[in-house]
Amino acid sequence: MQQSILLSTLKGENTPRPPVWFMRQAGRVLPSYNALREKYTFWQMMQDSELAAKVTLLPVHDLGVDAAILFSDILVIPYALGMGLEFTDKGPRFDRPLMDFSDAAAQLNPEPQKLQYVYNAIDEIIKIRPDNLPLIGFAGAPLTVLSYMLEGLGSKSGFNGAISYIYRNKAVVEKLIQSVTEMTIEYALRQIEHGIDVFQLFETHGGIIPLDFYRTLFLPSVKKISRVVRDKDIPFIYFPKDIGTGLSSITPDICDFVSIDWQTPLAEARRIVHPDVGLQGNLDPRLLFADLKTLQAGLEKYHAFGKEENKWIFNLGHGFIPGTPVENAKYVVEWVKSVNWEKL
Ligand code: CP3
Repeated sequence: MQQSILLSTLKGENTPRPPVWFMRQAGRVLPSYNALREKYTFWQMMQDSELAAKVTLLPVHDLGVDAAILFSDILVIPYALGMGLEFTDKGPRFDRPLMDFSDAAAQLNPEPQKLQYVYNAIDEIIKIRPDNLPLIGFAGAPLTVLSYMLEGLGSKSGFNGAISYIYRNKAVVEKLIQSVTEMTIEYALRQIEHGIDVFQLFETHGGIIPLDFYRTLFLPSVKKISRVVRDKDIPFIYFPKDIGTGLSSITPDICDFVSIDWQTPLAEARRIVHPDVGLQGNLDPRLLFADLKTLQAGLEKYHAFGKEENKWIFNLGHGFIPGTPVENAKYVVEWVKSVNWEKL
């Protein structure tokens, strides 16, 4: 792929402006998505390759972002490990949460071919995408995926059940981490074979356990996944949400770019993260609900940051929230594209 501003930035090349895309850009922020959702369920949209390809490209047409991200979900890994998964109005739900079983690892039944529909969707996206538009593939990182597998429901409890289970059953959890990691590696490799250009690993629940515990139990799996992806020359972005001072452990052996959550000021993240690792982020998705003047004021610090920093991708500090005014999302893309970044 030749002229992609995202790929150039990921390679460390200077570009006239930062690239821009958004987490959860292919979702309920878009009226075009909501219209399709009246006719189909989320699962139907993911599993039909033509529909999934169409939805993947909606934000490119509707918002003008510089990349597409595959329309799927991080919870397809537990699904491929044999867990019954449903997407309800309240979020995802597994029918048999693993924390109900002392022999949780024995409950899994890996069937990697269940994810074939994702690869068909990638083939279709590659066929119909605009020239030079990179496709981002992704997966959830092991702690985030496992916390849903254990707890069963995207809960408001802070995943206390899942975390207590981890403390009580370390040997079982090590086996579960291994199963999730192996399936994720296979999944990433197949996405790469089918043509994704960039890979992002979502550790949305990076802050639900103590950092030292995260480093010993989960970070080695992140490194394994990262190594496999980068050995194929695919840039690797890691999103360890809520990891706080853990950003100081983000070194080039972990990722090419790290996505910063909305809590941490970008300039402070820049001082803590290893200088060879680029940054992505981190507009607060809730700022998009504000009036234009407040939004403009909130963007100023990004202007100051981007003038000084080349290794930076504009994004949110977490995904769009359903109900976000789409005109504000469009405004932000236009702003990134039209501001004078005083480069080149
Ligand atoms: O970013 C994108 O646009 C690509 C697609 C994508 C989805 N989910 C689509 C989706 C990605 C990258 C994800 C990642 C994901 N899924 C994460 C990690 C990042 C994050 O945002 O925190 C997590 C924790 C999940 C699990 C998940 N899936 C939850 C908690 C929910 C329900 C809440 C919600 O936001 O709707 C989902 C469902 C989901 N995944 C939807 C979409 C578009 C909504 C489905 C619908 O239309 O009802």
